[in-house]
Amino acid sequence: MLKFTLAREFSAPKIMTAAQPIIRPARAEDAAALAPLATQLGYPSTTADIESRLALILPDPNQLVAVAELSGQVVGWIHVALYLTLESGIAVEIRGLVVEEKRRGMGLGRALLAHAEDWARQRGARAVRLRSNVVRDGAHAFYQHLGYSVVKTQHAFRKNLD
Ligand SMILES: CC(C)(COP(=O)(O)OP(=O)(O)OC[C@H]1O[C@@H](n2cnc3c(N)ncnc32)[C@H](O)[C@@H]1OP(=O)(O)O)[C@@H](O)C(=O)NCCC(=O)NCCS
Repeated sequence: MLKFTLAREFSAPKIMTAAQPIIRPARAEDAAALAPLATQLGYPSTTADIESRLALILPDPNQLVAVAELSGQVVGWIHVALYLTLESGIAVEIRGLVVEEKRRGMGLGRALLAHAEDWARQRGARAVRLRSNVVRDGAHAFYQHLGYSVVKTQHAFRKNLD
């Protein structure tokens, strides 16, 4: 009597075709990569501008700049700050978030935001807040998709100092 062995289905080992993003704290030497992204966010900035701001932000334990790195290239960043108000306690504010135009829709914004939220939780913040220009429809859909709600509508005031 012939014995038959059932042929097993073999699936080829998965080949990593896409590079995995790394989320890490920003370093001073990232300035040249962060500047064009700040410009994409709508705030034209030079490498020197970002260098001088990073020099103030990086030593501050109440602020975080984290970057998304893909294949060794910085393609997104988030800046958040812990702050205390007399009326509402400790919270974290998102001061800036941007992903390189060609790298949007890949989950990098979600990963940067999750990293910042973990950082906020570890510091006892009860909420993450942000203000966003009313014209940024795409960003608003992104935030709402990730659990953020519009809680009020404000006017933004500014006085330039001489
Ligand atoms: C907003 C921004 C940071 C999002 O980054 P991103 O890497 O493209 O977002 P992700 O790919 O991580 O998207 C996360 C989720 O949000 C959704 N999302 C992202 N952009 C969206 C959009 N424009 N409309 C609807 N949903 C959107 C995605 O579908 C995704 O959902 P899923 O994970 O369930 O599939 C990016 O679009 C950007 O840099 N925009 C310009 C700068 C800006 O407006 N920054 C915010 C200033 S307040």
